Amino acid sequence: MTDGWNVSAKAWIASMGETGDFSRGLVLDTPMMERVSKAQPKAVLDLGGGEGRFCRRLAPHVDHVVGIDPTEGLIAHAKSLGDADYVIAGAEDLPFADHSFDMVVSYLSLIDIPNIPKALSEAHRVLRPNGLLLIANLNPWTTASQSKGTPVKNPDGTTTLTMDRYLDAFPSWAEWSGIRIQNWHRPLSFYMQSLLENGFQLTHFDEPKASGGARAESYNRAPYLHIMEWQKRCSMPHSPPKQFWTRSICRLIQRVLWRKALAPGFTPMCLQLAFRRGSCIFVAPMVLTGGDLKAI
Ligand SMILES: C[S@@+](CC[C@H](N)C(=O)[O-])C[C@H]1O[C@@H](n2cnc3c(N)ncnc32)[C@H](O)[C@@H]1O
Repeated sequence: MTDGWNVSAKAWIASMGETGDFSRGLVLDTPMMERVSKAQPKAVLDLGGGEGRFCRRLAPHVDHVVGIDPTEGLIAHAKSLGDADYVIAGAEDLPFADHSFDMVVSYLSLIDIPNIPKALSEAHRVLRPNGLLLIANLNPWTTASQSKGTPVKNPDGTTTLTMDRYLDAFPSWAEWSGIRIQNWHRPLSFYMQSLLENGFQLTHFDEPKASGGARAESYNRAPYLHIMEWQKRCSMPHSPPKQFWTRSICRLIQRVLWRKALAPGFTPMCLQLAFRRGSCIFVAPMVLTGGDLKAI
């Protein structure tokens, strides 16, 4: 965390209000709430929940909502409005037991979190098996333009953004409406690979359209936000694959059959094939012929 967020807390609270800015109020809030309604979680953790606006939106629909954020000024404001529990903490070191939540939300906070692999491993830990990680994020081609200075306004009213170092990961300062904060550019591959490596499986992806007004029309021509939903996989990627167990059981059966000299030519492959087809009809002729089906 940099000082930027602490110094900018007041201006941030004023700029959000209860309806949020354009990205939140007119693009993300509705589809994010739709994902929550679909999953019907009982306990939700909002990572980098800031001043608590989205936690307050969640509260009427979810039994237990917790917002964490390292910025004291934002958490103090969230606590003063209530509706949820708020804790000062960074996403990289969550003060919660394993399997505490049905859903973890990161609403435009990934670009502010310095250590993404650590934060994702923590999100995975506190989620119950099959729990969901719901993410709203800025498209990386937008964050790759941030360090290039102000967008250029063209005579025809359009805006030109200059992008550079897309494949690198680097921090840059952003400044608007009295807010000055440092956040991170990372390429899309960095986020996707970190999520996969931390045991998540993609279950939903969307680039929601903005609704209403000229600004929405302009946004829809060059959108810069996306939503992803990832599920905590039950088995970790390092656990042996299903085939391992099937093969071991087949080997054991073959050894017993071999000892009894019932089917000398009967290989584990034959048995696995029979298992896969899900039919004992295959097994009987194979056992009888010692795996040589041409014999019958
Ligand atoms: C752009 S704001 C988003 C706030 C809120 N989720 C929303 O959508 O309005 C990013 C938030 O990330 C928080 N943040 C910064 N470093 C963080 C970290 N290491 N872990 C979690 N949150 C962090 C900031 O304090 C800030 O509240």
